[in-house]
Amino acid sequence: PIVALVLAGGTGTRLYPASRSDRPKQFLSFGREQSLLAETVNRVGFADETYVLTRESFADGVRERAPSAAVLTEPAPKDTGPALAYAAHRIREQVGDCVLLCLPSDHRISGPFSDVARTAARVAVETEGLVTVGIEPDRPATGYGYIKPGASENGFAPVETFHEKPDRETATAYVREGFYWNAGLFAWTPTALLSAAASSPLAPMVERLDQGDYDAAFDAVDPVSIDYAVLEDAENAFVVPAALDWDDLGSWDAFERILNKQDGNAVLGEAVTIDADGNVLVSDGHVSAVGVEDLVVATFDDRTLVVPKDEAQRVREVVSELRDDE
Ligand code: GDD
Ligand code: MG
Repeated sequence: PIVALVLAGGTGTRLYPASRSDRPKQFLSFGREQSLLAETVNRVGFADETYVLTRESFADGVRERAPSAAVLTEPAPKDTGPALAYAAHRIREQVGDCVLLCLPSDHRISGPFSDVARTAARVAVETEGLVTVGIEPDRPATGYGYIKPGASENGFAPVETFHEKPDRETATAYVREGFYWNAGLFAWTPTALLSAAASSPLAPMVERLDQGDYDAAFDAVDPVSIDYAVLEDAENAFVVPAALDWDDLGSWDAFERILNKQDGNAVLGEAVTIDADGNVLVSDGHVSAVGVEDLVVATFDDRTLVVPKDEAQRVREVVSELRDDE
């Protein structure tokens, strides 16, 4: 069987103040009808079963937004490495042998998603490897993983190298050399992932999972993403290139690519713009911008954020400052 595993344990720090600790970005809809989480779960309607992996405090919110999915909660938020190893272990216990299709819940995707996902699942079974989906980059984004493909056949290629979040200069070279972005969509059998994890920094965790002690398993590892922990060093990784219209809604600057434009500004909510250009104006109310360029102005509830668009990643600094104050 194909089992979809939706990752929904992150908070979306960089989308403050729309995302807050009790309202992670996957619960938000950003002007559409459904939350990002519900869109993700619906996108994998073809799977035999769907699990959403999240933290305890989000579990009720997940059930509300994705009533058709089973909810799996993790003992601690330790990023996607521990989360995916834990889920592979739990789902293998509950379902037995299967292919896991692992999906982030912070993406907007259009195009032949189910064909791509089914191909990835088939390749995971055929190769018994770790399968990623590759997107052709259109800019040297530094927030993604980059994949150098080997010779492709039959719709997939071995991964020659995987480099998570390179700096701008390296990313520019990779785009020129024809690398793919890692879409963050993975397919593998639980056994393939767990055996790769057993020879990675996740090894102490895997041992405790086998003993059935989940709390100890999470205590045994530091937070690390699956990309750094496993994929960068994996020897049996494969990539399925995909022509998807794909975006990770990681930070406010991404909204420029998905929102309607009003006089050259990306707007969510209502706005008045006068001599303003290239701004991202997002709110649950009304924003006015006069004579400014390339800013993010975000207002939700009683909170306002203003940041130059090209520094949108720095919103995480605000959130850590706020956390320190609490
Ligand atoms: N359950 C759970 N637990 N989910 C988590 C956790 C956790 O501790 N941490 C993050 N997630 C979820 C997020 O909610 C998101 O849906 C997904 O895992 C991916 O995490 P991100 O934090 O958004 O990763 P990223 O965007 O920086 O990088 C990854 O995705 C890129 C593409 O979007 C990497 O795989 C990159 O290589 C890739 O290019
Ligand atoms: Mg992301």
